[in-house]
Amino acid sequence: MSKVFVFDAYGTLFDVHSAVARNSAILGEQASRLSEIWRTKQLEYTWTRTAMGQYRDFWQLTCEALDFALAVTRTESAGVRLALLEAYRQLGAFDEVASALASLKEAGAKTAILSNGTRKMLEDAVASTGIAGQIDVILSVDQLRRYKTDPAAYQLVCEEMKVHPGQVSFQSSNRWDIAGAKAFGFHTVWINRRSQPDEYPDLPPDRVLSDLAGLSVG
Ligand code: LAC
Repeated sequence: MSKVFVFDAYGTLFDVHSAVARNSAILGEQASRLSEIWRTKQLEYTWTRTAMGQYRDFWQLTCEALDFALAVTRTESAGVRLALLEAYRQLGAFDEVASALASLKEAGAKTAILSNGTRKMLEDAVASTGIAGQIDVILSVDQLRRYKTDPAAYQLVCEEMKVHPGQVSFQSSNRWDIAGAKAFGFHTVWINRRSQPDEYPDLPPDRVLSDLAGLSVG
């Protein structure tokens, strides 16, 4: 039975595509392509930089990934860049997030975020989505200068929350993150929001849900 529920942030609690969606009127038909490239490059940079030992924080990688996405889609406007970055600091949460977290808290669970985001980014997102009261602990890999799926990132949960891996239920919409968490020893719940096919067959999730509403203690 897990009483410690740890959540990935981007894509799991916060809708990374909401930044572009809010600006879709000015971006036009390139909007969804730009958003996908932005996210894909942001993640690629975390993996390459960890492998190289050349850390740059997640906000910087988010900016660099956006610059690439804007260049590929030939979106040339300093105003758009600024608007998208501002929107990224105030992403929307998925609809069920607040109520799912509240139910877990009522059932006596401890809740945490473990994210690649910087502490400031995470605090901004938690504040702007109004879920600060439902999150007990915010953990950023920034203090390690290494990104998920490095085992040290998941170890941070055990060190900071004084728990064993087997006591932790880890939720992420990112299948690669679930693979990393499973390899580390967490109980894993893949939040497959976009009905993606499975990957990493040797590192399967313990549960698959379409959103956070089905989570429960015990
Ligand atoms: C996070 C990103 C990678 O760690 O989803 O929050």
